[in-house]
Amino acid sequence: MSNFSDNETFEEVIAARVSRRGFLGGGLAAAALTTLGGVGALTDAAHAAAQSAGGSLLGFQGVRASSEDTVVVPKGYTPKVLIAWGDPVSDGPAFKQDAGNSASEQARQWGMHNDGLVYFEIDGSTLGLLVQNNEYTDDVLLFPDGVANWSREKTDKSLNAHGVSVIEIARQGGGWRVVRPSRYARRITGMTPIAVGGPAAGDGRLKTTADPTGRNVLGTLQNCAMGFTPWKTYLTCEENFNFCFRKTGGPTRWERRYGIPAAESSYRWHETDKRFRADEEPNEPNRFGWVVEIDPFDASSKPVKRTALGRFKHEGARVQEARDGRVVVLMGDDEQFEYIYRYVSNRPWREALKAKVNPLDDGVLYVARFGADGSGEWLPLTPSNPKLRAAGWSLNDILINTRGAADLVGATKMDRPEWIDTFSASLTAVATLTNNSARRVEANPRADAANPRRRNVYGHILRWRHRRDWTEPDFEWDIFALAGDPANRAHESTVKGDKYGSPDGLYVAPSGRLWIQTDVSKAAINSGDYAGFGNNQMLCADPATRETRRFLVGPQGCEVTGVFVTPDERTMFVGIQHPGEAPSGANDPANPKRFSSWPDGPAGGRPRSACVVITKDDGGPIGS
Ligand code: FEO
Ligand code: CA
Ligand code: CA
Repeated sequence: MSNFSDNETFEEVIAARVSRRGFLGGGLAAAALTTLGGVGALTDAAHAAAQSAGGSLLGFQGVRASSEDTVVVPKGYTPKVLIAWGDPVSDGPAFKQDAGNSASEQARQWGMHNDGLVYFEIDGSTLGLLVQNNEYTDDVLLFPDGVANWSREKTDKSLNAHGVSVIEIARQGGGWRVVRPSRYARRITGMTPIAVGGPAAGDGRLKTTADPTGRNVLGTLQNCAMGFTPWKTYLTCEENFNFCFRKTGGPTRWERRYGIPAAESSYRWHETDKRFRADEEPNEPNRFGWVVEIDPFDASSKPVKRTALGRFKHEGARVQEARDGRVVVLMGDDEQFEYIYRYVSNRPWREALKAKVNPLDDGVLYVARFGADGSGEWLPLTPSNPKLRAAGWSLNDILINTRGAADLVGATKMDRPEWIDTFSASLTAVATLTNNSARRVEANPRADAANPRRRNVYGHILRWRHRRDWTEPDFEWDIFALAGDPANRAHESTVKGDKYGSPDGLYVAPSGRLWIQTDVSKAAINSGDYAGFGNNQMLCADPATRETRRFLVGPQGCEVTGVFVTPDERTMFVGIQHPGEAPSGANDPANPKRFSSWPDGPAGGRPRSACVVITKDDGGPIGS
């Protein structure tokens, strides 16, 4: 946590909203009862049609909360690993089960610990591109001897296992195969040259010894969730970049706001690569924490960091077209007490592209403030905002230290904003808030034990809606679901159906099915407050009835993150990240399969993050 501003927290907003409504003694659950009017209006056209035909969106039999070391799906569905860490993205080298592949081999293989993903259909064919982030590495499992004997080669391999993987895939029979070789397949890693676009390109604070122009960054890192644009590009979001840097001297005010130095930096890159020593290259951290745009259809294209979208620990970037063709980008900054942001392009995207201006380079950034009366507003982060003007902030000050600007304008401090998606037709957005509680509970266990109902250890899903268009300055909000176990009276939960907690990945399918993925932290999985919840999982909610049913449970130690369907909804791609993560401490390179051997089982050398394809045995839409 690095937000020391005295801005209002979302919890305080909720408490005020509850007391306004006269829900004495109530908490989040009571607030969740104050819903947006006209839930029927929250549905998209396809969904509304299904509802009016009397059908529920949840046609499958829910699965139990499993703690097995496998992917569990409902009867009538089949999960199949499409590609896993270390598999070649094209005609490159095969994975060595002892993790013995070199740094240059890793640069041609699927990266480690995959996260957000998008499927791009290649028009009029049975081919498509699958693009998935590789968020971070567990360097203990990345090498045969773990982090011992650290070297430049090890730094390079770790950097090359980060970033983004692009593969070409083909429908075959009822399933999918990776096309090898492919002219689309590529890796974008922590070592790939990337341009800087937008207002902050060339700013003095982005210049380093290796790049005196401030316009050419080496690499993208900590690529968490994602987005995609109407012009068919992919957005990858740099999240926990502060963990990448070593800083021994006292941090500046701006560094402190971004958590540099990080308390728990786990990488040893700084030992062999000067750019990760922030004492020597103080501007290098400013070159991370951006949204990066990639053209997946041109493997020779250079990715671009889009500085107009601001710099923070970007979780994802949901792009939504407004009525007049401008694009709106909804973004969360995933850390305790950080904010939710919106970007609005200045021009309709087609007009901007025609004028050779990227729609993500020219627009206005906003940050959200939530009101106790159920209203909310987007506060502009511009030099003309009176609060920023009084403080003398330039546009580049705002874009590079976006968190500091948001502090000044009075944004609402949220419970760790993760993924955001939209029900386009009903102008409604949904966002996961994983939970803020772990550290706060640790800080004051006695008060917490005395009043367990105050604990929101399970997180929630927030919802807001605009009246006429996505570009409006204000909105109304409610809580779609307060996560947890509805059968446990000791905690508040408004879940209707299967229990879950720590919602993270969130995805609205074309049919209106709302997919929810969980990221219960490693120490909490299936124990303590989460006893009986099983491994991390994915559920499906019907947005009209709010009924929620468990669809998938991942293998041991994993997080389920990344989900997308084909346009016909008959194939779903799901990311399984960090199976076999040690519940406490680090993994042991001498015993890499101690906590999981998924997906390779006895034949494999270590657990591997992977992308899984799910199909329905009768060929129907997923979830039907
Ligand atoms: Fe990378 Fe906030 O999850
Ligand atoms: Ca996440
Ligand atoms: Ca998470």
